[in-house]
Amino acid sequence: MNTVLEIENLQKIYMMGQVPVEALAGVSFKVDHGELVAVQGPSGSGKSTLLNLIGALDRPSEGSVTIGGIDAATLDDNDLAELREKVGFVFQFFNLIPRLNARENVELPLLVAGVDREERRARTEDVLEKVGLVDRMDHKPSELSGGERQRVAIARALIAEPNFLLLDEPTGNLDTKTAAEIMELVSGLNQEIGVTVIVVTHDPEVASFARRMIRLVDGLIASDEVN
Ligand SMILES: Nc1ncnc2c1ncn2[C@@H]1O[C@H](COP(=O)(O)OP(=O)(O)O)[C@@H](O)[C@H]1O
Ligand SMILES: [Mg+2]
Repeated sequence: MNTVLEIENLQKIYMMGQVPVEALAGVSFKVDHGELVAVQGPSGSGKSTLLNLIGALDRPSEGSVTIGGIDAATLDDNDLAELREKVGFVFQFFNLIPRLNARENVELPLLVAGVDREERRARTEDVLEKVGLVDRMDHKPSELSGGERQRVAIARALIAEPNFLLLDEPTGNLDTKTAAEIMELVSGLNQEIGVTVIVVTHDPEVASFARRMIRLVDGLIASDEVN
């Protein structure tokens, strides 16, 4: 298969004052293009640390992250910025801009990238339709439910047509039914547009929506299984 991500002996040690905290203790795995992978593990097991390293938001203490055949450690700041543009991030608390409505929140990355008005409009409506939110696009985040807010955040993450969609506890702030709907959506998008998805969650129920589940315990892979 076509490997798009290779993690090798990934370690991350944070310093808490004088005390080292080993968040990742040597993690290795590969992800193929178009896979939907869940990384499941208890709080503190290193999931967010792993996702931030994959998205090149942080640098490892040891080991490597190779994306599309390129070792992230060899990239300069410009190339890293370019790489980050090809990664869509979704977080537990949505991180939407309160003053902007759903359409404007989703459109913002295109505005920043200097995409012209016509194209912005067309692409924004296209992704809002993909997440099932066209009829709510004039509402501000405060006027949307938690599930709808997360749909906006997913649309915003997809607007730049990323190679990867990385979700960190995307259902952590949602009730069980809404969480299942969001995971159905993510899994549908994975199949429909073929974007490679890595979703991090403490919830085994949420992780079960992915065919492949990597279980992380104390910064190490405890299991890596395909159902
Ligand atoms: N910036 C940081 N500084 C110090 N310790 C951190 C930092 N980020 C995470 N940690 C520690 O690293 C470990 C793994 O954290 P994290 O990756 O956030 O786990 P998870 O997302 O699975 O809950 C935890 O012990 C946490 O306290
Ligand atoms: Mg976390």
